[in-house]
Amino acid sequence: MDDNQEQQDFDSAEDGSQLSADEERLLDELGLFGVTRREFLGQSTAAVLGTFAFQLLAREEALAALPTAPGAAMAPTPRLENAVRVLLKINGAPQRLEVDSRMALLDLLRERVGLTGTKKGCDQGQCGACTVMVDGRRVLSCLTLAASCEGKDVTTIEGLAKGDQLHPMQAAFIKHDGFQCGYCTPGQICSAVALLQEARNGEASHVTADVRARNRNINLTEEEIKERMSGNICRCGAYPGIVAAIKEVQSGTRTAQTWEFASDERIALAMNPDGKVEVRANEIV
Ligand code: FES
Ligand code: FES
Repeated sequence: MDDNQEQQDFDSAEDGSQLSADEERLLDELGLFGVTRREFLGQSTAAVLGTFAFQLLAREEALAALPTAPGAAMAPTPRLENAVRVLLKINGAPQRLEVDSRMALLDLLRERVGLTGTKKGCDQGQCGACTVMVDGRRVLSCLTLAASCEGKDVTTIEGLAKGDQLHPMQAAFIKHDGFQCGYCTPGQICSAVALLQEARNGEASHVTADVRARNRNINLTEEEIKERMSGNICRCGAYPGIVAAIKEVQSGTRTAQTWEFASDERIALAMNPDGKVEVRANEIV
């Protein structure tokens, strides 16, 4: 091969003319043209870009295949690709659904079944907002394929209360002020409920002193609770209330509520002539 041919091959590889149609499309969508595109390609091998393009396009196609909510003004939904039938129970109710084989359980719950209590935070297994229980064990629904739940029992935050009666963990979260914005709370509560079963089963954690001892009904210390709940992030920092709530439910020992709602009378009394409300330290108005 002469020097000119070599230079031509190099130039054509550098400006992307050897890329596949999908890769070209991806670069166009990313707004990478001319010099910027050449710089980008200089930093990426075609193989890496190919994998990246494949994953991004597969994801786009999977998202595009989601059905529209009733009455939503959206473009017509393309037919499901890679469709599989799944029969599972969600909060005790049997559901037979046809889903894309790549769909996450989180998307099935929120987009197909309309159970939006389960939250999507990071969508990559880092925050715990999407925690639900599958056959009684906590899982990150963003990392669980819906198709893998065939024949299983899924419990979400909506399935914990019995009618008007809250699950003891839900009541304890309220009592101990275990949330602020509430976004992480469904995942925190599902995680906490499953955690109690893990303790009953005697499953060790990273901070359990003797991992060989098969103690049933492990008594959850604060350190144990913090470690076992460490996969559930709360950006509001409601951790002290969360730990207190779990401790109370596990011990069965009722502890005093540290705050109370102010009565109407107290609010009226607290109103000063300037119209400002003076609130005592532990009151919520
Ligand atoms: S949304 Fe699943 S871990 Fe963050
Ligand atoms: S209550 Fe806001 S993120 Fe936890």
